[in-house]
Amino acid sequence: MSEELTTAAELFDAIGVKYEEAFGHRPVVEAALRELIDALPPSARVLDVGSGTGRPAAEKLAAAGHRVTGIDVSAEMVRIAREQVPGAEFVQVDVREWETSPGSWDAVCAFFSFVQLSRAETERVLRRIAGWLAPGGRFALVTVPADIEDLPIEFLGHAIRVTSFPTDALVDRVRAAGLEVTGTRTERFEPGKPGAEPEEHVLISARKPG
Ligand SMILES: C[S@@+](CC[C@H](N)C(=O)[O-])C[C@H]1O[C@@H](n2cnc3c(N)ncnc32)[C@H](O)[C@@H]1O
Repeated sequence: MSEELTTAAELFDAIGVKYEEAFGHRPVVEAALRELIDALPPSARVLDVGSGTGRPAAEKLAAAGHRVTGIDVSAEMVRIAREQVPGAEFVQVDVREWETSPGSWDAVCAFFSFVQLSRAETERVLRRIAGWLAPGGRFALVTVPADIEDLPIEFLGHAIRVTSFPTDALVDRVRAAGLEVTGTRTERFEPGKPGAEPEEHVLISARKPG
């Protein structure tokens, strides 16, 4: 195992397109995207937080005619996403620092983007996302649910530390941010590559009241 990579930018600059090779098809992500595409009005403004390689989220949402912006802290992921998904816009920025107009997004999705944040930072980012959504706007959150804080793990050959919540606790945090939770869906996922262990995935679907 390589030495510990402490930040998400360091980790994902090193992993690049290998992430998509290992985690390309995840049923819960596909379900989240179908749900969003079915619910959104034409040409909706969609923000993908931690947009990675741009696939599948930005690519599918843009192909459905939506105006997609992906934000990601990794310069390498943003470079790959711009190349792979010319129909969306990508910005290299940390979600903890990004500024956008309140109420200006019809949907926000965040797939596996918060595991290198502390619990307090995730709570703060959820409140920020709730503020960015327009009334009636949708939020789709996918993560690996677990009662872990700063746990050392190996991820695609890199040593990192991860933090998450059990599903119920995360649902509580989404509600506490001011969003109405409309459903959850859980599935076990087998990654396609060595170096990535089987894991549980949860989708929390929510909307902003109004
Ligand atoms: C596990 S990958 C998931 C990528 C994509 N959402 C997907 O599901 O295929 C997490 C992504 O979130 C980004 N990320 C992690 N922490 C972030 C932060 N604080 N701000 C913005 N992006 C972040 C990483 O650089 C990485 O590209």
